[in-house]
Amino acid sequence: MSKLIIANWKMNGSIEQIEHDLSIYAKSIYTNNPSVVLALPNIYLYIASQIKNKLGAKFSLAAQDVSEFANYGAYTGEVSATMLKGLGTKYLIIGHSERRTYLNETDDSLLNKIDNTLNEKITPIFCIGEPKDIRENAKYIDFLQNQLEILLKVKSSFDNLVIAYEPIWAIGTGVVPTSEQISEVLKLIKAFVQNYLPHAKITVLYGGSVSGVNASEILNLPEVNGVLVGGASLKPDNFISICTY
Ligand code: 13P
Repeated sequence: MSKLIIANWKMNGSIEQIEHDLSIYAKSIYTNNPSVVLALPNIYLYIASQIKNKLGAKFSLAAQDVSEFANYGAYTGEVSATMLKGLGTKYLIIGHSERRTYLNETDDSLLNKIDNTLNEKITPIFCIGEPKDIRENAKYIDFLQNQLEILLKVKSSFDNLVIAYEPIWAIGTGVVPTSEQISEVLKLIKAFVQNYLPHAKITVLYGGSVSGVNASEILNLPEVNGVLVGGASLKPDNFISICTY
């Protein structure tokens, strides 16, 4: 299977940029591929899926968040997994460290989000990652294991699961862990899933300061099944150069 390359635009972009970038991605052999995933701000997914259909493009779309409430109801401002499914959303980012930090997302709300996502047959991209002080205290293995344990409480059945390791100290900093550091954590994630969720088909990603310069080294590590790219996904030239790894 080809590696999964996900562009996380975060709170960036405009309708004009989407029209522009998606037409480039539809034409490039490196990006017009279901393994290339564009995680756009949720508000833009409708227009993105219309553009995608019009261009007959094959890349996939992802949402960046979902409500912890299911289906429909009196939850002002919320967007449910059911609504996102209707927009052609194939993947959904859950538990990004920025949301855990700035929006105070708790394990209980993340668990509801994962269940709601799976119930709509959307594949969750569950993010884990330790802050700098935990890495420096060498407590990161316990910390990450603890973050993974939430998966043991998921009620919905699932076959496919994507887990992204994004050390907080590597996000937007230009600091990238060594290949050994990445491999160590990805092996830990795979061993955890094999032990506790043996039925699940798992895809494990690395994210944090991935760029055209380091993508090839990271993506060629045997444990790495793909990357989650932030800043370098905002310019088509940069993102395409990552996809050519
Ligand atoms: P950067 O690639 O900008 O470091 O962001 C990584 C990230 O948070 C992707 O989800």
